[in-house]
Amino acid sequence: MIPEQRIIELTDQINWYNDQYYQNSISEVDDFTFDQLLQELTLLEKQYPQYVRPDSPTARVGGTISKDFATVYHRFPMLSLGNTYSEADLVEFDSRVRRGLRDEPYEYICELKFDGVALSMTYENGVLVQGATRGDGVRGDDITNNIRTIRTVPLRVKVTNSSAGAERRSAVPPLFEVRGEGFLPLAEFERINKEREDIGEPLLANPRNAASGTFKQQNSAAVAQRRLDCYVYSFLAEETIFHTHEESLVAMKNWGFNVSPTWRKCADIQEVMRYIDEWNTKRYDLPLGTDGIVLKVNRYDQQAELGFTAKSPRWAIAFKYKALGASTTLNGIQYQVGRTGAVTPVAMLTPVLLAGTVVKRASLHNANEIERLGVMLHDTVFVEKGGEIIPKITGVDLTRRTAQSQPIQYPAQCPACGTPLIRREKEAHFYCPNEKGCPPQRQARFEHFIQRRAMNIETLGEGKIELLIDRGLVQTPADLYNLRADQLLGIEKIFFDEESGKKRVVSFREKTVENIMTAIERSKAQPLSNVLFALGIRYVGNTTAERIVAYFGSMEALMEAPLETLANVPDVGPRIAQSLADWFADPDNRIYVERLRAAGLQMATDRKAVIREGDSLAGRTFLYTGTFANYSREDLEAKITAHGGRLLSGISKKLNYLIVGENAGPSKIANAQKLNVPMISEDEFMAMLKE
Ligand code: IVH
Repeated sequence: MIPEQRIIELTDQINWYNDQYYQNSISEVDDFTFDQLLQELTLLEKQYPQYVRPDSPTARVGGTISKDFATVYHRFPMLSLGNTYSEADLVEFDSRVRRGLRDEPYEYICELKFDGVALSMTYENGVLVQGATRGDGVRGDDITNNIRTIRTVPLRVKVTNSSAGAERRSAVPPLFEVRGEGFLPLAEFERINKEREDIGEPLLANPRNAASGTFKQQNSAAVAQRRLDCYVYSFLAEETIFHTHEESLVAMKNWGFNVSPTWRKCADIQEVMRYIDEWNTKRYDLPLGTDGIVLKVNRYDQQAELGFTAKSPRWAIAFKYKALGASTTLNGIQYQVGRTGAVTPVAMLTPVLLAGTVVKRASLHNANEIERLGVMLHDTVFVEKGGEIIPKITGVDLTRRTAQSQPIQYPAQCPACGTPLIRREKEAHFYCPNEKGCPPQRQARFEHFIQRRAMNIETLGEGKIELLIDRGLVQTPADLYNLRADQLLGIEKIFFDEESGKKRVVSFREKTVENIMTAIERSKAQPLSNVLFALGIRYVGNTTAERIVAYFGSMEALMEAPLETLANVPDVGPRIAQSLADWFADPDNRIYVERLRAAGLQMATDRKAVIREGDSLAGRTFLYTGTFANYSREDLEAKITAHGGRLLSGISKKLNYLIVGENAGPSKIANAQKLNVPMISEDEFMAMLKE
């Protein structure tokens, strides 16, 4: 078959499977076959780039790099909405609508106002051909490749239940535009920040900025890794195919777009008020931030009759919920030092009641934020509770600034140890470089070390570490392994918790000590990847630690590896390699590792070190059951990792293949069947290796 033909065929076939899977939750093909088809298409596209189709499913994983985004003009300007915070204004808006429509009956559609980034998607003959940002409303950035990575944005709309290509396409206008809000789901935002915390990277400030930054990334593969989403809320085309906004929402949903099910048709403004009331609290259960509702006249002919002002439509308005805010005085700033030395300013406030809790502190993120807000000491500031747990300062009440206000002097020295602070290139935070001696950094290193995903000695949490350091019983986490029960028994300290104003007693009673000693002893069995993660090397999160260990097999091999070798480990780029090399180049760190070795921690894996043999299993996960003719269990595991595959510890939805041998475990098979995990034989596995 000629390549062009095959590319068309594969694109259609894979898109069909994707639609079935993502829209209808039907898995029509096993993962193996699917991956093979996708791999075939990827190779063909590489060979014949002139035939790549705009709706190619390979775009979902990204891979394009754009230097500067091209500017695109919007076919219809992207306007904004009039805003109001008061119900009286809404009633006023409703009267204007009624007058404008000369008392003709009308209905509203209410939607939530999603807090993200406005996007425009253009479809030609049902295929996504362009995606753009709002820009200044007249022209925006062409970010098509980034938008293609959003799984819920159809690359080709699906129109009827029938799969016949020509028929599917004829049901949509030849050219139309869909607009919506691109966002980073809250859960995804938290996942990314947890990961960033693990590896010592500054946290993303909020989901909205994170989404906006991600959409402007120039490497679409990096965009694909953050699972952005998009709720669509407008349909635009030259020809009229719908009569109401409601019809367009229903149609867009059926075509495969992500339409938030939160919209409602309201017969009058009273119903709108009820919608507003209802979502005032319910909106916090949604997967993204919302800051209000949008009210739209339903009928398109009535929208046309009402028309536009220069900036916004007369047929729609946004009602914004009052942010849960208060104003109070900024009394001072505390500078907190994290595990990697990053200094974070925290505002100390005159206590104020905010949404039922007393707030005394608020986050200020970094030095840039202080500058951006233009805040001075003793100013009256506005504090708000957003989606995040810690309230933040959103502005300064300049009308109440007095001669008392003083500029904030960002400290030049570490507030904890006095070392001069440094600022790393392109980073908003200042750092204390005194990694070893700075007390809060040391404390945070302990906390990192004892966490479940590291050495799992969490019984030492909640002030106990602080007490041990305080009493001079431990200096580095390696000292934990020299502790004796009799040293711990009976020590106690009363902490005064500023936040709650309460005293807290931390004490080591007999049972506590017993638990701690057991946990310390047990931690010696934690696998090498946990030990490596526990060291707290910058950029080495626990997944990276697993990859490194799978590659080197022992701490020794890792410690001796030159920079080039480190950079060659799958998923370890030059930045992580440099960080590892720097860390192991420090003699104190080597002594630290040797002490951990002497204490009996795992410094090697049972598995042999893996020499990379190929990529044929890259990105796929495996588990095996039973015994095999050609491999011992260790050999099989080594083969999987050597070819880029990953071994899972149990059957879950994340598992791609269960390799089934002789005398396979019946429960594993039953579970795999239940979750539709494809099962392959030893021969099939061997064939996969050769691909
Ligand atoms: S409709 C003529 N509907 O709010 C404007 N916009 O201030 C039509 N937004 O740029 C926009 N949720 O980014 C509309 N349900 C929704 C929305 C929404 C959020 C954003 C959008 C727009 C801004 C308008």
